[in-house]
Amino acid sequence: MSVTSSPVQQRVRIALGERSYDIAIGVGLLDDPAAFEAARAGSTALIVSNTTVAPLYAERLARQLRQRHAQVRQMALPDGEQHKSWETLKLIFDELLSSGADRKTTLYALGGGVVGDMTGFAAACYMRGVPFVQVPTTLLAQVDSSVGGKTAINHPFGKNMIGAFYQPLAVVCDLDLLKTLPVRELSAGLAEVIKYGPIADMDFLGWIESHIDALRACDPAALAHAVRRSCEIKAEVVGQDERESGLRAILNFGHTFGHAIEAGMGYGAWLHGEAVGAGMVMAAELSRELGLVDAAFVRRLTALIDRAGLPTRGAVIDADDNAGRYLELMRVDKKAEGGEIRFVVIDGPGRAVVRPAPDALVRQVIDRCCAE
Ligand code: NAD
Ligand code: GLY
Repeated sequence: MSVTSSPVQQRVRIALGERSYDIAIGVGLLDDPAAFEAARAGSTALIVSNTTVAPLYAERLARQLRQRHAQVRQMALPDGEQHKSWETLKLIFDELLSSGADRKTTLYALGGGVVGDMTGFAAACYMRGVPFVQVPTTLLAQVDSSVGGKTAINHPFGKNMIGAFYQPLAVVCDLDLLKTLPVRELSAGLAEVIKYGPIADMDFLGWIESHIDALRACDPAALAHAVRRSCEIKAEVVGQDERESGLRAILNFGHTFGHAIEAGMGYGAWLHGEAVGAGMVMAAELSRELGLVDAAFVRRLTALIDRAGLPTRGAVIDADDNAGRYLELMRVDKKAEGGEIRFVVIDGPGRAVVRPAPDALVRQVIDRCCAE
């Protein structure tokens, strides 16, 4: 990983040999051809967005991309986590095939994590792989989902269960785009920012604590630092373990519980970041039960999650056997091995490991964290 900076733009490099690329972070990048220079000139392009983001930004991006591409088409998917599905993915293939897209056609994912994950998966599959660029428009997508090449759709039985590792040519994070983001979505993004503290960098956790109000107020300097530092940490992890054979799983802190909430409540009922917020409290509680961190650590993390505007209590997803339903859903988690659930736990401030835990202990944690 290496980092360069200029007054208006910073770059964080994802170092993956021939699949290396830059994350550009700055203001006004949507209109800046230099931010998109990794994309092949001359080829055709398809901007994939959704019905909320496309009216705001797709034409601006298209105007700029027409300087680079022979033809720029646009399409808007239905908005929402519940549409991160086979049916919606097929709409992208329908558009590509009906417009005669070829192997050099470049896809641009203009949207949050849902659009990014689906467009990336479509790019991985169409003609066995076409180039794509991530243009994340949510905080969550800028600090996490657009970076590192995980692409997927959901299945009713489990979150992100069908997908591929497929790296983009570039990630372009225009901080200006966050100005139109609803407050609840900004908080959801803060969950993934906070995540990087306990797993990797307690100094960053301290910085977030002292800038949480500025972040919630969309202060440009605070957002720029949060996006850059999050991307640096993710770049470091992905650079060591691109396909999650080990270390990369720590980026899923809070996600095992969180994915169970999302699937259990029905996709879209809780935002992904909200489920991760409550999931981090549960994972921190589990870490404490395992004797790895003390109660003060859990209180500190819970207080920050609360200040970020996120839920700190888990959802009740089954009135009869809530913990049992969590366990059932968590056994479908991608980290599970031979039916044994493996959790990302904190084994000291700024350090995470992945390990199993006894069902009885997990049940206790769920019961306590989901109680009113
Ligand atoms: P999202 O994509 O649903 O976007 C949130 C909402 O904000 C949507 O309604 C969207 O239309 C709207 N929106 C987006 N940008 C906007 C803007 N600039 N102004 C106004 N509205 C805007 O949700 P998300 O939180 O960005 O992403 C969540 C998804 O990301 C989940 O599916 C999760 O599984 C996935 N994810 C993937 C990874 C990964 O590594 N691939 C990592 C974390 C999360
Ligand atoms: N968001 C987790 C990962 O990219 O590995």
